Amino acid sequence: MTRRSSPSRSPRRPRAKPFAERLEAAGQGHLLAHLETLGPPARKALLAEIEALDLGEIRDALSRMQEGAKPPTFEPPEVFPLRRTAEQEALARAAREAGEALLRAGKVAFLTVAGGQATRLRWEGPKGCLPVGPVSGRTLFEIHAGKIAGTRRRYGGSLPWYVMTSPANHEATVRAFEEKSCFGLPKEDVRIFPQGTVPAVDLEGRLLLAASGGLVRSPDGHGGLFGALRSQSILEDARRRGVEHLSYFQVDNPLIPVADPLFLGLHALRRADMSAKFVAKRDPAEKVGLLVLTGGRVGCVEYSDLPPAVAAERDGEGRLRLRFGNIACHAISFPFAASISPDDLPFHRAEKAIRALGPDGREVLVHGVKFERFIFDALPRAREVVLLEVEREEEFSPVKNASGENSPATAAAAMAAQAARWFAKAGLPLPPPGPAGFPPVEVSGRFALDEAEFLERAAGLEIDPRKPVFLDEEAPWSGSRSRS
Ligand code: UTP
Repeated sequence: MTRRSSPSRSPRRPRAKPFAERLEAAGQGHLLAHLETLGPPARKALLAEIEALDLGEIRDALSRMQEGAKPPTFEPPEVFPLRRTAEQEALARAAREAGEALLRAGKVAFLTVAGGQATRLRWEGPKGCLPVGPVSGRTLFEIHAGKIAGTRRRYGGSLPWYVMTSPANHEATVRAFEEKSCFGLPKEDVRIFPQGTVPAVDLEGRLLLAASGGLVRSPDGHGGLFGALRSQSILEDARRRGVEHLSYFQVDNPLIPVADPLFLGLHALRRADMSAKFVAKRDPAEKVGLLVLTGGRVGCVEYSDLPPAVAAERDGEGRLRLRFGNIACHAISFPFAASISPDDLPFHRAEKAIRALGPDGREVLVHGVKFERFIFDALPRAREVVLLEVEREEEFSPVKNASGENSPATAAAAMAAQAARWFAKAGLPLPPPGPAGFPPVEVSGRFALDEAEFLERAAGLEIDPRKPVFLDEEAPWSGSRSRS
């Protein structure tokens, strides 16, 4: 929705008549009256913002979306399952080694998308600054940083961490990292970069005006990643460092392993362009996107686009036929990331209440449309894809809502439950459940990245089960130590 030819050219002052005509013709005549109310600097800035847009495309995009496409058919894709044959088990062993070799050789970068607006959570500020650690109270950023530090320690590389923000939360995110000295990670290995934005419209496709003087804009979705990787020179940085694969995860899932050797190895051995992890969908109504085969390509269908009867279909073993719940964790090969241009991914519409200026110039909530690109729309462009099934309890507990399902409370409980399972395996005593219903135990990624590492490190550990337990390495940025 930006002019493709010359998005950065300096705005020429348009001759009043043709410009006004063009606005009227594009159904944006309401902007003219507003422009009249502005002083020269604000007027100039808004004119430049409007001039940079492809006005025709905005309305076209909206009407294309409203037309509704012919419903596609969906088939189960080929997957690498949890229940494996002996042959798959042998491949998994080789893949884990291949993934570890990639990490040791510094050929992997961590990539987190954290530019969302956290509307459902009703959280002001970056979602990554939300505290969810069940004992430590650490934030999502700190939890991921702990795992990244643990991975770097285990494999010895200077693996970089790229964090995508949006213009609305970029400064606050940078501040959060700075205040805690990048959570103990070397500053030169952490790059925080903003994604792009697109203007929002009302239901008739008219651009909305913000109280600040410009247009109402919103982040261009996690699929905006590909554009931002280019425009913010992240691809350049990754190329310089010899990065071959990006380990992509979303900031709102504290359980996700930040770089899984098995996943990376399967992806690399298969020479896949983009791979995805999934968990078995719980029941037909679960609100999770599904990885499917459609038109001979792997893709992801949103739960809202799956007819309920199709969602409820069972296979010969009584399992949901389409059960491959996308957990938004991807391995992306560098050449593939570099080959995707922003316009390769379609816009999706999200109808939302949007704060904007009403006809009388006062701010109101307008029922409007925000446009977003989705990362999983790159999947059908991949020649090879690995779909790896993982345990939900070990890897997926996203924070989406303020309360109830997929909330900070369920994420904290899932982290504690994982730690409790590891404690039990290691024969360590557990403190009794606290008021929230789970034993107050937590393991930082600095202490152990997975059960196997935990069992090694937990041998001989003395635990006092009368107190909450948080196992961590010394955290230099906060002065805290392992406590038990
Ligand atoms: P969601 O789609 O769940 O959006 O993002 P959200 O912003 O967190 O929450 P709602 O929908 O407003 O309630 C999944 C992941 O993608 C990132 C988010 O930060 C989160 O990690 N994301 C989303 C972006 O980085 N940019 C975007 O434009 C949208």
